[in-house]
Amino acid sequence: MVKKAELEILEEIAPNTFMIRYDDKKFLATKSRSKPHYGEKKYAEFREWIPYRSKLAAMILNGYRIKLKPDMKMLYLGAASGTTVSHLSDILEEGVIYAVEYSARPFKKFLELSMERRNIIPLLKDASKPEEYAGIVEKVDFIYQDIAQKNQREIFVKNAEFFLKENGEGLIMVKARSIDSVAEPSEVFSRFLSEMEENFTILKHGKLDPFHKDHIFVHVRL
Ligand SMILES: C[S@@+](CC[C@H](N)C(=O)[O-])C[C@H]1O[C@@H](n2cnc3c(N)ncnc32)[C@H](O)[C@@H]1O
Repeated sequence: MVKKAELEILEEIAPNTFMIRYDDKKFLATKSRSKPHYGEKKYAEFREWIPYRSKLAAMILNGYRIKLKPDMKMLYLGAASGTTVSHLSDILEEGVIYAVEYSARPFKKFLELSMERRNIIPLLKDASKPEEYAGIVEKVDFIYQDIAQKNQREIFVKNAEFFLKENGEGLIMVKARSIDSVAEPSEVFSRFLSEMEENFTILKHGKLDPFHKDHIFVHVRL
């Protein structure tokens, strides 16, 4: 007799975000009305959220939580083809995600995603020039940044000055090598953190290993 696979919700992590067990497989997923976007599997209404593809999923699986609300307004810098944005779009169901990407190639696929989701506003813009999208983006509750650039701190600060609400929060994914390709990652991270402290309160930081080597997340409040 063939045993029917069973799906079980193990934990609710955030709005529409769950740890799921399906047969012997345990994984993070978002509840979604949409089809898969980047090769992830969909089990019933749950879209697998792959930590090797999304640093936010890696952070969650490493045990850290941020407070996301369904009606949040978010500015997302470095959307690429929309892997992480697709899951945030499941989570912020009644909110809006202004998502900036400056490279035309991934943006093409990202546009397809944006056409299917009413809460994503795609912007083909350079995140280091927020003045160019200041007429479109409103004040937001949260800024998420994953752009792997040497001047990523300056870019984050500039965008926060333009768009982050008082007491708003942000999350930056930092890749050591994109800031300094020769220094020890731990040195790069401690320099980055002390510079961030000049403008923000650091709520938490932590590694993204084993999913993303020599990366940290930094969660801040204005
Ligand atoms: C690591 S990928 C982002 C992956 C994506 N956040 C995800 O999890 O699905 C970094 C992206 O940032 C974009 N990027 C880098 N500098 C940028 C800038 N100044 N303005 C806009 N996008 C930028 C790159 O083109 C690239 O697509």
